[in-house]
Amino acid sequence: MTENRFQSFTERYAKGDMPWDSGITPPEIVDILAERPPGAALDLGCGTGAVMRDLLLAGWRADGVDFVARALELAGEKLADFPPDSFRLIRGDVTRLDRLQELRPPYDLIIDIGCGHSIDKTDNAAYAQGIARRLREGGDFMLYASHPRPESTVGWTPTQVERLFGSTLEIYWEQRGDDVAIGAPSSWYRWRKPF
Ligand SMILES: C[S@@+](CC[C@H](N)C(=O)[O-])C[C@H]1O[C@@H](n2cnc3c(N)ncnc32)[C@H](O)[C@@H]1O
Repeated sequence: MTENRFQSFTERYAKGDMPWDSGITPPEIVDILAERPPGAALDLGCGTGAVMRDLLLAGWRADGVDFVARALELAGEKLADFPPDSFRLIRGDVTRLDRLQELRPPYDLIIDIGCGHSIDKTDNAAYAQGIARRLREGGDFMLYASHPRPESTVGWTPTQVERLFGSTLEIYWEQRGDDVAIGAPSSWYRWRKPF
């Protein structure tokens, strides 16, 4: 299944079929950057790096993981003017973070905008553990996920999200909306790792 997703995302980047790639950092992320002092951030499923660029502009160190080489190539072009040590673009699977030696945990902020909700459901637990382990105590995990549609395997219900992260992180903010590109309801969540 992960292989199918990989093929599908690879083909979409090759064709330039990326409706999610607005190039604009969502206001929910802009808000959290205004609230927290700069630190170390990790963007899971970073795509072409628009959020990483805004993290770097705000004084953060930013690492990004994506499994599509073309996405990382485009991100590299976007970030070329920043000091090389301020960011890392890491090719790999977000459900297998232990294989990624280039990561620099612990992170003060981990972001997932539309990535985790499409992974194979059998990888959900490994994915959630990988995040909890690499987040600093007191750090935030910001998640954007669409809700499932009957005809698709993409999406997490708020209850599924609660089950996935609730044993290690504490939720302190949730906002429901609509994902126009996917055509489904969606939610933003903010989780914090307790001290
Ligand atoms: C819907 S796009 C969102 C991209 C970016 N977060 C944004 O908001 O523009 C999902 C991204 O996650 C990546 N992705 C999906 N599953 C992944 C996995 N298991 N490991 C690494 N990257 C993954 C895809 O290649 C794609 O770039």
